[in-house]
This record gives sequence, C-alpha cells and structure tokens, in this order.
Amino acid sequence: MSIIPGFSRGLFVSGGSVANMTGLMAARHAVLKDRIDGATVYLSDQTHSSVERALRVIGFSREQIRKLESDRNFRLSIKTLRAAIADDRRAGLRPFCIVANAGTTNTGAVDPLSELADLAAKEKLWLHVDGAFGAASILSKRGREMLDGLDRADSLTLDPHKWLFQSFECGCVLVRDAAILKSAFKIKADYLRDVYRETEEINPCDYGIQLTRSFRALKVWLSLQTFGVAAFRQAITRGFELAELAERELRARKGCEILSPAQMATVCFRFGKSDELQTRLVDVMMKDGYALLTSTELRGAVALRLCTINPRTTEEDIVETVKRLDRFARQ
Ligand SMILES: Cc1ncc(COP(=O)(O)O)c(C=O)c1O
Repeated sequence: MSIIPGFSRGLFVSGGSVANMTGLMAARHAVLKDRIDGATVYLSDQTHSSVERALRVIGFSREQIRKLESDRNFRLSIKTLRAAIADDRRAGLRPFCIVANAGTTNTGAVDPLSELADLAAKEKLWLHVDGAFGAASILSKRGREMLDGLDRADSLTLDPHKWLFQSFECGCVLVRDAAILKSAFKIKADYLRDVYRETEEINPCDYGIQLTRSFRALKVWLSLQTFGVAAFRQAITRGFELAELAERELRARKGCEILSPAQMATVCFRFGKSDELQTRLVDVMMKDGYALLTSTELRGAVALRLCTINPRTTEEDIVETVKRLDRFARQ
C-alpha cells in the first residue's frame, strides 16, 4: 500500500491483532533468528493488548515483555526506554524490539516515532509500529503531521476496518523488507508443488500465517476507486475536527474534566469525581441509544471516551451527545 511512504510490501490479514503478530514474527526472525532465550521487547503501558497476546502466542513469557510506564501525555518515554534497554543489556539479556503506537486505543496518543527510530537504529532493534487505529490518518494533513517518523518503522500494523472505513475483517501488515517476511514464513509443502512451479507468482501464504484466504484487498481497492483518495482524506480530517468539537463542548460543561485532549479523533474525560458515575453514564447512554460511549481507565481513574471516526457523524450529533451526557450526569 503506497499510501504509507517507505512501505511498498505487505499483507492483508484479518485485523490488527494478526497484523501485530505477523510484524512481531518478522522481528523475531530478523533479529533473533527465532531463538528467543533471554530476548526482551519494549512497549508502553498504553499498548493494545493484542501486542502482548501476539508475543505470548509466539513464545515470549511475561518476564520478557517490558511494559513501561508512559509519560504524562500517555506516550512511550524515550528516557525510560533507554534506561530499560541499558538495564537489560547489563543483565546479559537481549533487547530485540521496540513496539511503538501510532494512535493508542485509549487516548489516540502517538509515541515519538522519529526518536524511537533513532534509538532502534542505534541499539540495532526492530521497530514495530502498531498503527491499527491511527496510521491511516497519514492520508490527511493532520495525521501526516502527527505521524512524522512512521516511515522509518521496520513493520507497521494498519487496520483498514477502522479508519479506512472498511467492513470487517480487513487488517494489514506492512514491512520495509518483504524478504524478511518471506524468510520468516515460507514453508514449502509437497502438496503445493503445482503452486510453486510458477516461480514469478507471489503467494500471500509465503508471507503470513493464513493459507486459504479471502480477497481482502479488493474491497479497499474498490472503495478507493469509487470514492477517490480525497474522500478518505476528507472523512479522516472530519474525525479530527469532530473530536475537537467534542472537547470544546465538554470543556464548556461545568463538572467535566478533560483527561486527554482530542487527538486522533479520540477525547477522554469524566464528569464529577466518582468512577461509579462514569460507569453509570456508559449504561445510561447505552439505554438512551443516541450515541455509543465507552469507558476506559487512565492512570487508575475511570474515563469516558468518545471516538469520532464514523464518517456519518454530524456536528449536531456531537453537540447533542455532550448535552445528554451533561444532563444524565446531573440526574
Ligand atoms: C491500537 C490497536 N491495535 C490493535 C488492535 C486490534 O485490532 P483487531 O481488533 O482488528 O484485531 C486494535 C483494536 O482493536 C487497536 O486499537
């Protein structure tokens, strides 16, 4: 997918979870030659759970996963990361991979990608970026500014069934060097000898986990052809703007505290001080049926989270959602 500069090769997969696993398998193969004893991997406490699950599926124990406390903006701290890598090297361990976020699920935070790429290069580590949520926003000017350095990752997860508006299931893993992916995954089976007689042909099964697969690329290609890239750009930009509108509306309400400002079409906040109230608001909103709101935890506090990537959402929808939330919070 050439919409992400720096990456020309990749594979469509079921979603972000499998894309993360595929990227991490490439990392394991490239850096560790698949020998994982004493190897360590670094990620922030805001990283999506699919990354930890993928690492466990491919053989890493919890002790090999360094989940580092994020900074006050919910980003991976370079200082903390440097110290963790140095500690592990001193202990005779083998740091091999940094997992960065291009739009966390909780707050939309983007880790400092350029600095992480510098550090990864210096330390000879693989840089995998989980851009399942945010990477597609590179199509927009706003996203491009936030994603500086994304093109320097070794592997990247993109989830077209999120901010490229595709139907489920449509994930994608992009790699800088497709030969690594092939070397990590290719197993020649006797019963597939007819497939391999055509040596020029690219077989997706050589680059990932799945053998039998659907033609996921078709829907992405068709919708890009039908609507044009400009329509996607516009819809993504609208996501950014609606989250900013939500933040402004929320700030205007007494008793509402912004816990994480609008970024990547996500804003986190809470009404009042009690965690119970936030949980109740999720339930009340669900019953009300006007808007779907979810909650999360930020630094131990329950936070409400609005995500505005639905291209059909209007400004009136946002204003009315906040109005209702405010009313329900005071009931
Ligand atoms: C940042 C991030 N990474 C990975 C995933 C997992 O993606 P999927 O649900 O497509 O497997 C998600 C969302 O679910 C996500 O928000």
